[in-house]
Amino acid sequence: MSALEDFGLTSDPFAITANDTSVHRWAGREHEKAILLDVVDSVRASDIGSSEFVVVHGEYGAGKSHALRYLTTKINEDEAAHYRGKAIYLQTVRVSQKVQFVEVYKVIVDQLGKGFFQSLASHISQQVNQAKVDYLSSAPAEVKPQLMADQTRHMNETLEQMAPKSAIPYIKLMMAASNGGIDRVWSFLRGEDQAFPEIGLSSRINNDYNAVATLAGVFKTMTARIGSMSPAYEAVYLFVDEQENLVEMKAVESIQLLQSFRELINQLPNYFCMIWGFSADAALIEAVLPSPILQRLTRKYVELPAMEAQEAKQFIREQLIGFRKPDFVPPNPYYPFSEEAIDAALERIIDMTPRNIFKVLRAVLERAIRRYDLVAPDAIDADLANKILDLQT
Ligand SMILES: Nc1ncnc2c1ncn2[C@@H]1O[C@H](COP(=O)(O)OP(=O)(O)OP(=O)(O)O)[C@@H](O)[C@H]1O
Ligand SMILES: [Mg+2]
Repeated sequence: MSALEDFGLTSDPFAITANDTSVHRWAGREHEKAILLDVVDSVRASDIGSSEFVVVHGEYGAGKSHALRYLTTKINEDEAAHYRGKAIYLQTVRVSQKVQFVEVYKVIVDQLGKGFFQSLASHISQQVNQAKVDYLSSAPAEVKPQLMADQTRHMNETLEQMAPKSAIPYIKLMMAASNGGIDRVWSFLRGEDQAFPEIGLSSRINNDYNAVATLAGVFKTMTARIGSMSPAYEAVYLFVDEQENLVEMKAVESIQLLQSFRELINQLPNYFCMIWGFSADAALIEAVLPSPILQRLTRKYVELPAMEAQEAKQFIREQLIGFRKPDFVPPNPYYPFSEEAIDAALERIIDMTPRNIFKVLRAVLERAIRRYDLVAPDAIDADLANKILDLQT
């Protein structure tokens, strides 16, 4: 709709966004936004640092995916310098015919990519080298020559003293990657036929148990304090969307999958944030999730409820602001709609979710321009909106 430009809009404000794009804007729903931002802030090492596990729920079109993608974009792009974190967004756990944690794990590793592990390895190796210097300078004078003569001992003692114990094998894995072994490390992480018995990683990652251990180990390494240098990341975020899929899975698959997630949470008490999107009401969530999972939730469910008319209007106004051409002064906040046209349209919507609101407004706007020759500076009035909607519904 290039005619939109005549109405002072940069592009269609009511387009349904594709699933793989960045989401820079958030309209309305201030309360829910504040809760979610508090969750992602608090897990950072420079904030409270305790891990969080939260469920965001609401009906279809309520804005769950939007919320998770908005947080992903904020953490990885728009406010990367503030968060110094890494967010992973998974649209679904249904990544293979048989749903298994090890398959989910592989998708996560692939999404991070080889380049990510290459730069993580280089950061870890700087941390370790600094820690070795720190350790050597604090060692008793008679031990120093022995440490300098025995690099393996120097490294092992440094890590024992200065790194989180459970992360040590994965720190060593990153050291191997930074010492020219990235190809071998990458194929190990992807579960191909490789293992690192020399550093205690002696089995291939081809089952859920090893996949959980490895993912937890990698996340811990990303946030590990080793000696005096800052960790590579302040926190790791795993956002898993469309968890209502659990309802339709075979019980054996969903039980195992949930067991793996539970184990992942157990292994990551700090600097880890997991948020699940769930198209369901609270009662269904309680029916689907076993209590060992429910008990690990760190907050009440965050619901994205259908909106009231006043809220919906605020949502529409804020959404439009993000799409105004610079310097354009609209004759009213809903332009190219009149406020009466918005009221008329909202009256027709039974479930006021963002998706339903977008669908109706988009249809009215498109038809007003194409069929009814709406031209700037005219606005859509209530009569025109009703006429279009009468034909639509
Ligand atoms: N706060 C918001 N600000 C701007 N746009 C929003 C907001 N919330 C939702 N939207 C938009 O509304 C539409 C529907 O939202 P979304 O796809 O996130 O719903 P959902 O809850 O994930 O639905 P489903 O259960 O069907 O997956 C999307 O185009 C999304 O960009
Ligand atoms: Mg969705």
